[in-house]
Amino acid sequence: MKNVTQLENIANKVVLVRVDFNVPQKDGVISDNNRIVAALPTIKELLGKGAKVVLMSHLGKVKWKDIKKGKATLEDIEKQKAKNNMAPVADELAKLLPGVNVSFSAATRGAELSDKVAALKAGEVLLVQNTRYEAGEEANDAELAKEWASFADAFVMDAFGSAHRAHASTVGVPELLKKEGKQTAVGFLVEKEVLNLKKVVEVPADRHPYVAILGGFKVSDKIKVIESLLSKCDKIIIGGAMSYTFKVALGGKVGKSPYEQDQIEYAKKMYETGKIVLPIDSVVANDFENPTDVRIVPSDNIPDGFEGMDIGPKTRELYVKEIASAKTVFWNGPMGVFERDEFAAGTAAVCEACANLKDAFTVIGGGDSASAAKKLGYKEKFSHVSTGGGASLEMIENNGHLPGIDVIGD
Ligand code: 3PG
Repeated sequence: MKNVTQLENIANKVVLVRVDFNVPQKDGVISDNNRIVAALPTIKELLGKGAKVVLMSHLGKVKWKDIKKGKATLEDIEKQKAKNNMAPVADELAKLLPGVNVSFSAATRGAELSDKVAALKAGEVLLVQNTRYEAGEEANDAELAKEWASFADAFVMDAFGSAHRAHASTVGVPELLKKEGKQTAVGFLVEKEVLNLKKVVEVPADRHPYVAILGGFKVSDKIKVIESLLSKCDKIIIGGAMSYTFKVALGGKVGKSPYEQDQIEYAKKMYETGKIVLPIDSVVANDFENPTDVRIVPSDNIPDGFEGMDIGPKTRELYVKEIASAKTVFWNGPMGVFERDEFAAGTAAVCEACANLKDAFTVIGGGDSASAAKKLGYKEKFSHVSTGGGASLEMIENNGHLPGIDVIGD
């Protein structure tokens, strides 16, 4: 697989770069620009070689499929588009690239877009409006991919966070360009992600014990990754709301904690492998929004009217001990409602235990765990913090393969 430094004769040529600028933003204010910053090395490399850089990314969700299902109207789609307008991202990018001419195309196809691309000069950047403004993006529509591919001389995939999506901008365009004999490559961000994540996909014997830590809401979201990790890991530590499904499966009482009835048999089967480690105590509250009664109780005996908010002190101790022996760690998902200080201790304990490991390779699989590590000041202490939550999980599930990356390979 070529990387961006290996692209030849790209001076004055249009290089289309798929980036992942799906950043958290509200009313045009970006609260975390990490993903934009992470794409800068690739953009700067191309600008340094005199390319005309066209950047494409999705932002948020525009649920075209809901129209077909009768669950949304065109008016709903317009509202989703307005909420996920990429224009503020162009402003942020311009701030991060002082001295570079950064323009924005409000159009996602047609003459307005092709005129803007044609007007680009060497060393300039054009960011295109949210790819999901087009219904054909997620459907990997052939006509749309053809139109986007038509203005590119070369393609770079640097959107690791979107590499598990086989969409027009991630797979359709590079597929077409390759057929036409044009150059395709991965960017620095994707290259670094692949190199690091491979170390938690194939783990040699001398890098065991391999401990995975999974948190978050639903077992059903993590079924495939749990199955895959069971064949790779020595232990899987479970936290967050998904632990309650396991507790119910083992005959526990979880009060009003959320659990998935339809995953109980699966949870039982997974537990029988002997590799799953579950909470023994929980911090519970009488109300999620306005807790007035907070208690520590056994995780399998949560009183009626209470719900789990975090792992308890005994569980923290147990989990820290399990983590202490690890030589490889993969962490995805918080242990509790870590956004609120009173329920952040479990996530903080797990994060600190991983960060303090001496001879271990520690990976955070994006999303909430990455935000938690950043908030707690431990981000720099991890061997790798992935920019892709869903993508890093799918990379493990698919033994190192993702459609948006495989398409670049030979
Ligand atoms: C992410 O934030 O995980 C990626 O940008 C992918 O977004 P998606 O789940 O909306 O495809």
